[in-house]
Amino acid sequence: DSAAGSLPANRGRWSSRFAFILAATGSAVGLGNIWKFPYVTGENGGGAFVLVYLMCIAAVGLPIMMAEVMIGRRGGRSPVNSMRLITERDGLNPAWRLIGVMGVLTAFIILSFYSVIGGWAISYVGVTASGGLAGQSSEGIGEIFSGLLADPGTLMLWHTVFMAMVVLVVARGVRAGLERAVKILMPALFVLLVMVVGYAMTTGHFSEGVAFLFEPNFANLSTSGVLVALGHAFFTLSLGMAIMMAYGSYLPKNVSIAKTAISVSVMDTVVALLAGLAIFPIVFANGLEPGAGPGLIFQTLPLAFGQMPMGSFFGALFFILLVFAAWTSGISLLEPLVEWLEEQKGMNRTISSVVAGVACWALGIASVLSLNLWSDFAPLGSFAMFEGKTIFDLLDFLTANILLPLGGLLVAIFVGWFLSRQALENELSMSARGFALWHNVLRYFTPVAVAVVFIYNLT
Ligand code: PHE
Ligand code: NA
Repeated sequence: DSAAGSLPANRGRWSSRFAFILAATGSAVGLGNIWKFPYVTGENGGGAFVLVYLMCIAAVGLPIMMAEVMIGRRGGRSPVNSMRLITERDGLNPAWRLIGVMGVLTAFIILSFYSVIGGWAISYVGVTASGGLAGQSSEGIGEIFSGLLADPGTLMLWHTVFMAMVVLVVARGVRAGLERAVKILMPALFVLLVMVVGYAMTTGHFSEGVAFLFEPNFANLSTSGVLVALGHAFFTLSLGMAIMMAYGSYLPKNVSIAKTAISVSVMDTVVALLAGLAIFPIVFANGLEPGAGPGLIFQTLPLAFGQMPMGSFFGALFFILLVFAAWTSGISLLEPLVEWLEEQKGMNRTISSVVAGVACWALGIASVLSLNLWSDFAPLGSFAMFEGKTIFDLLDFLTANILLPLGGLLVAIFVGWFLSRQALENELSMSARGFALWHNVLRYFTPVAVAVVFIYNLT
């Protein structure tokens, strides 16, 4: 059996539930929370979008996270091989393991542009530390940002640096140090976010920001906004591409999957909401546009750091922590492909990391150019729904709004309808009511919700 043959002799276990939580939180908390959540919320009108997003986290994301972790723990191997093992053992169609293969591809595409945005964050460490933001007006801050986007050379430099950081860690296969660092750096990021929220309270527009985030006005939410909310729930929790499966394979048997998944989801959500609370008051105080798009945090947070005492210091620290959060997520995005190359192509870890990283970096060049030289190039622009979308926009749309929900849908169907109830009960060991709730949501609610949102949007 090649699956067993390719296993490392002694597959380690997480020392504890806590170690798993650190790794999973490292993957989940990233640019999705601080960069993407605020800007998609701004583009989709605020409160109603946030409400739908929170419902997607609780009713779709959380049950699927539990399902993914469970498959991983049951299989005890890399996602593709865990799926193979479970389908063989239970006499199911081996094609189910394509869930794992699809995840590898999705993660690869996401990392290609994630690295470019990670590069923006690196560049802002320097911009902030040099004191260049102090006392800047919103126009000045806007010019700094558009200057960065207009400059392919600088974007390439930081994209390359970010990708190299990811490859370095994946190639060395030592994650332990980084995961322990999560324990210090995530709380630090949290504290700095709270500080920016504190600043936001002094702008005199805090309640406007709160209202924008939490007062639902469904007139502002389109059907495509619902798809974005669903897709973002998958993106932010690192779901739909077998990452949580990979982590689950290390989870000790006596740990509660439900409690663990809840902790990770809650932490991720809190960070995203704090980012929203930090950013929107600044948007309104400065007459900026909530729907400004992917540049939103780079046009708002610098204003806060430009005005607060010791802003250069706290600003640089904030962007360093953001880079770190993006780094731990980036690692989890490259890992599946590297593992797959190792297992299927028999490459050693260093070579497969470099090959995967270089390929991903090369695809990232398309996203870099989408921001400047190719900014008017909309490859699928003749379709109404893709009008004006650059390559960067298309890759984001394809992964977050199509591939991730599809991957999650398949996981829900596989676990909900094809695995035996008895086996699931054993693996989850929850109360009877909790189990029944989870199982029914996974069997009925999740597939129907994802299918309905798809059908509304793609027809
Ligand atoms: N969840 C990460 C974030 O919010 C991004 C990510 C997506 C990481 C998918 C891994 C897999 O930034
Ligand atoms: Na996230």
